[in-house]
Amino acid sequence: GLAVPITGSLTACGDTHGQTGQVLASAARLPEAYATPLPLPPVKRPAGGLIEIAQRHASVEILPGLKTEMMTYDGVFPGPTLETRRGETVTVRHTSSLTLPTATHLHGGHTPAESDGWPTDLLVPPSFNTYQVPQTGHDGHAPMADPLAQVSTGERDYRYPLDQPATTLWYHDHRMDFTAPQVWRGLAGFHIVRDAEEDALSLPRGEREIPLMIADRAFDEDGALRYPALDPELLGQPGVEDRYMAGVLGDVILVNGAPWPEAEVDAAQYRLRLLNGSNARRYELSLRTADGKPLAFTQIGSDGGLLARPVQHDAITMASGERFDVVVDFRSLAPGTTVELRNALGTGRTAQVMRFRIARRATDDVRVPERLADVPEPEKPDGAVVRRWHFRQAKVHGRKGWGINGKPFDPAVPQAQVPLGSTEIWEFFTDAHHPVHVHLSPFQVLRRGNRGPGPMDHGWKDTVDVRPYEAVRVRVRFEKYAGRFLIHCHNLEHEDMAMMAGFETV
Ligand code: C2O
Ligand code: CU
Repeated sequence: GLAVPITGSLTACGDTHGQTGQVLASAARLPEAYATPLPLPPVKRPAGGLIEIAQRHASVEILPGLKTEMMTYDGVFPGPTLETRRGETVTVRHTSSLTLPTATHLHGGHTPAESDGWPTDLLVPPSFNTYQVPQTGHDGHAPMADPLAQVSTGERDYRYPLDQPATTLWYHDHRMDFTAPQVWRGLAGFHIVRDAEEDALSLPRGEREIPLMIADRAFDEDGALRYPALDPELLGQPGVEDRYMAGVLGDVILVNGAPWPEAEVDAAQYRLRLLNGSNARRYELSLRTADGKPLAFTQIGSDGGLLARPVQHDAITMASGERFDVVVDFRSLAPGTTVELRNALGTGRTAQVMRFRIARRATDDVRVPERLADVPEPEKPDGAVVRRWHFRQAKVHGRKGWGINGKPFDPAVPQAQVPLGSTEIWEFFTDAHHPVHVHLSPFQVLRRGNRGPGPMDHGWKDTVDVRPYEAVRVRVRFEKYAGRFLIHCHNLEHEDMAMMAGFETV
């Protein structure tokens, strides 16, 4: 097979405070918090229905004065932010000069199967001999064939109808068995869908609308990314799977690719599009001013679009893959004051995320409306099929790994057939913490354990944080498209260790 050149070694477990996973310690000199300005990814809009993206290796400055070799979309990390309009079909043409295959998924997109980034529908760089495409995981597991795989060389078009409400989507790599290392190395970006309904609302916009991709990483002394190599030789040793099982965490918190950045803002309201783009880290985010006063978040949207009405939160808990669209109000703060975005699930430096500095007074006539969008009440339809998905450990080719309903992912064998036009109840159950993500159709949370939906479950979701022994029931309707789609854990190491299943819409 092909070795993925990844470096780094694991330290003993740290940071277990409300957070599972192994923390990789950086060897590089880390900058002080809030010394780096917050970057914004470049924006790309379709021209004649087309957006082009070049996947390539690039050396990116993440830590000041050091170069980090990354796998990128267009040479930047995060990749460019794609901005599109609801109902306007866009073709995103990816070319690749990488040295490894990829599969690009639009997370949250209502996308036909052939463009959804099925994990074996690879884009292979032209320099690459297709026969070399490894069919083994980076944990060294045995070959797995997918007779239906559609492999393209050099270039691949992804067609997105975007027949869905305005929201924050993101695109990232989804290659079978290698999603975690390839996303870690840089293959992720925002995709924002806009529509007329949202345009008509009084919400912060322009420079007062900021996408924030929060993702942890770890770095070697020379700036190279650290990531545990799970090669077959290592796997012969006892206990190696255990070090990887919970997921990989870094000790550096990046926002839009910058370590613990600072954003200069007006004393005004801001719309923050929060995305947890981390492999395995969860965050409990809160805002507090330099003199210790908390600041609330007004949630206006979730994964799948605007909420029916705004919801106030003191803290936002986010699992990998989730998005929260919030408005924060800096109007009462004097120029010169600062507001920290903190993570209650981190310790030491991972408890810090970023900081806002109020630079100037400003006028602001935004009034967040009491009615945002039409979202039906999530009701349990009578007589709906209840489909159960049990997320737990499974043997993956004889080794310890993760599975769904006792089975590791097999691209050739879907676990369910779902008739198009049907509404079903899906129940997710786990004995550990897993963020569950469903492709194609958004869902509404009906229940968490014996109770109703939790505070983070409002609106249309595509990723839900499932806690141990707390069955989460969601209502999901599949209207279009026919083909094969995925349900999986969005802890990316779990996903690669086979906690994924195909389902087929028919
Ligand atoms: Cu964000 Cu199937 O992935
Ligand atoms: Cu998981």
